Amino acid sequence: MAPLRIVQWTTGNVARATVRAVQARPDLELVGCFAWSADKVGRDVADLVGLDEPTGVLATDDVEALLALRPDCVVYTPLHPDVAELSRILRAGVDVATSAGFLTGHSLGPEARAALQAAAVEGGASLFGTGMNPGFAQLLAAVATGICEDVRHVRAVESVDVSLFAADSNMDELGWGRPMGEPGHADDVRRAVAVFEDGVHVLAATMGLDLDDVGCHVDFAVATRDLDLPGRPIAAGTVAGLDVRFVGIVDGAEVLELHQRWVMAGDLGPDWTVDHGYRIEVDASPQVTLTLGIMPDQPLETLTAADLHGIGMRITGLPVVHAIRHVVAARPGIVTYADLPVPAAPLRQRR
Ligand SMILES: NC(=O)c1ccc[n+]([C@@H]2O[C@H](COP(=O)([O-])OP(=O)(O)OC[C@H]3O[C@@H](n4cnc5c(N)ncnc54)[C@H](OP(=O)(O)O)[C@@H]3O)[C@@H](O)[C@H]2O)c1
Repeated sequence: MAPLRIVQWTTGNVARATVRAVQARPDLELVGCFAWSADKVGRDVADLVGLDEPTGVLATDDVEALLALRPDCVVYTPLHPDVAELSRILRAGVDVATSAGFLTGHSLGPEARAALQAAAVEGGASLFGTGMNPGFAQLLAAVATGICEDVRHVRAVESVDVSLFAADSNMDELGWGRPMGEPGHADDVRRAVAVFEDGVHVLAATMGLDLDDVGCHVDFAVATRDLDLPGRPIAAGTVAGLDVRFVGIVDGAEVLELHQRWVMAGDLGPDWTVDHGYRIEVDASPQVTLTLGIMPDQPLETLTAADLHGIGMRITGLPVVHAIRHVVAARPGIVTYADLPVPAAPLRQRR
């Protein structure tokens, strides 16, 4: 089978993982790359994502030229999704797999969601969003329910120290270091991570569940000392912990829950428990819990902060890349894990 032709859209943190993964797969071929930053135009993608060998693909800001390459799929990983840009790609008949603030489009609002769905159908293209969480964590939750009956409640928990990611741009709008109890902070957090609403809809879709509503609860914790984090210092007494629960509601009851607890240090006030990982809890018959263990595959003494950050980006980018083949084969329109075969990784192969 000819390799699928891939265009990478922007070359930030997640792209470092997706480009590497595309290059490692004989069934995928990188044919183009979009640069949002003007100073990246004309540079080899390898240079932009830290690969040793040149790819021969130069980044460009010429969208028409990229679409004229007739790619099978765009791996779309900019900081924010751009509905007009995505619609243009889809209308040109190019499938999209993304980590960028999109899973179902519910969080973008009904107009944007309808526009994306219409563009995809018009172009005969599919649009799929994932990542670690939201994204893959909801697939895990769905799978965990598969050995249960009488399911009453499903909870997916992400409980992590995010200080390694403190300087990432997608942390900018969360209000780290704001005074505790500032009016509007909870709403700002909800808006900044609204894509978790999509995650609730993905889990509901895999379970064949119609939700009445999706709600969100936000709690805060403060630093008990000054935190000297690279790129984001946080003063003692200001916000250094976020507890964000997006809930799916049926008949007035919260039946699905995506619970994120993000802390910038281990000693906050209140003294929250942090489990350092992902856990699925299914309240059903029988009761099921599933804990995801993620460990580096290199000697721990050689690990750098960049390596650890890279693991976070790989578990975000790899679900995107592993889904590409299924996204290309999927029906036109917005598709989720409810529509795709399980996107497992292939066994390691060399080109
Ligand atoms: N679901 C998950 O598990 C998960 C986890 C982590 C991240 N994400 C999401 O994945 C996406 C990529 O994350 P990332 O850490 O790779 O992002 P990033 O490195 O901060 O930004 C990605 C690229 O977006 C472009 N960009 C920068 N500022 C922009 C702006 N204001 N508007 C539009 N584009 C801009 C730049 O393109 P150039 O390369 O051309 O400079 C940048 O390299 C984000 O939407 C993030 O929220 C999802």
